[in-house]
Amino acid sequence: MKDQDQPDAGASRRAFLRAGLATGVAAIGSPVLAAGNPENQPPNIPEWTRLLGDGVAVRAYGKPSKHEAHVIRRDVEWLTASRESSVSFTPLHALDGNITPNGLLFERHHSGIAEVDPADYRLILHGLVDRPLIFTLDDLKRMPRVNRAYFCECAANSGMEWRGAQLNGAQFTHGMVHCVMYTGVPLKTLLDEAGVKTNAKWLLLEGGDSAAMTRSLPLAKAMDDVLIAYRMNGEMLYPENGYPVRAVIPGWEANMWVKWLRRIEVGDQPWHHREETSKYTDLLENGKARRFTYVMDAKSVITNPSPQAPLNHKSGFTVLSGIAWSGRGKIARVDVSLDGGRNWRTARLDGPVWDKALTRFYFEFDWDGSELLLQSRAMDETGYVQPTKTELRQVRGVNSIYHNNGIQTWHVHKNGEVENVEVS
Ligand code: MTE
Ligand code: CO
Repeated sequence: MKDQDQPDAGASRRAFLRAGLATGVAAIGSPVLAAGNPENQPPNIPEWTRLLGDGVAVRAYGKPSKHEAHVIRRDVEWLTASRESSVSFTPLHALDGNITPNGLLFERHHSGIAEVDPADYRLILHGLVDRPLIFTLDDLKRMPRVNRAYFCECAANSGMEWRGAQLNGAQFTHGMVHCVMYTGVPLKTLLDEAGVKTNAKWLLLEGGDSAAMTRSLPLAKAMDDVLIAYRMNGEMLYPENGYPVRAVIPGWEANMWVKWLRRIEVGDQPWHHREETSKYTDLLENGKARRFTYVMDAKSVITNPSPQAPLNHKSGFTVLSGIAWSGRGKIARVDVSLDGGRNWRTARLDGPVWDKALTRFYFEFDWDGSELLLQSRAMDETGYVQPTKTELRQVRGVNSIYHNNGIQTWHVHKNGEVENVEVS
């Protein structure tokens, strides 16, 4: 079962899938080879109907069925030298809707997970302010709060795909994105309390992990929609996502969403630290680098089918599904192509379409069993259209790591297997 979840399992994965199809397994939504046990199937009474089950609170904190144990964050071993400065990816192919479950958010740490004691947690606000302040966690929780769902996408998402199709799975090509409902205090509230001086233009956000990650943030964005968040999907933040407090910078690259937020300094110019000079800048063909490229442009990906989620039926009614998002606002439309971008049809958006959040789309069609080249193309409310990879490379070259929002192509083979490819 695990094979199809590996980024590049190659031949063994293909052989495995063919074997699965040969046995005629076609149950919708079930993993490949879910032939099961006839004793539990009609006309028999299944074993779980004959037994008394676990009582309440036996599972004091709920978790998914053991049959879903393959739905986990995964990393790519050869990608980084150590796990402490690395990334794990959201299993996009195994999720639906537009909210990511708390235990499955991709993680990106520059020096591992800081284990912060909430009793010792302090947020320092100083610099060009009338009153420097230090907030405890309780101070923050006592302030007026808001709830907002936002996508969080690492600028390096799809970064391995700049020079060509690399990783076989939406989890690995696009899984550095998640979307949860944050609860927090608008940063504006804290800044108003401290009294920002008239010459202030920039903020420095600093993390409390041993990387002490720092980023410069324009004051205008801070006053607009930035949150100082302590909850995700109702629960307190998980340690890997910044417990107890992180910055939420809607629509902007996730590197700025400083976790374990410890210090905010108000200044009159950017600091030009590591994460905004040697990193998180985009080297162009002419040797110059784009800098302060904060906004994550509109992007989308088909999550089903995709390499880790092949089609298990030979033909017939098929639900294609995916996610779209834009750092500039709401998703207005998503188009889908079955033939590598020659013909486009408009997909159906379903569920809430929130500002700067993941939006779910569906496209239902009758698959005739032939090969397909699946693509999706997002458009946002500003009229921005997701570019093809060719269009993107014409402007940006291939030296970049960050901000790859080009259109993804999945090649569906006749046996239902799906591969990461590029069309020109
Ligand atoms: N904040 C601190 N303090 N340390 C970090 O290493 N990584 C950044 C950002 N904030 C980081 C951080 C990067 S590059 C990303 S992509 C996001 O956190 C990842 O957030 P997540 O782990 O909650 O998905
Ligand atoms: Co990142």
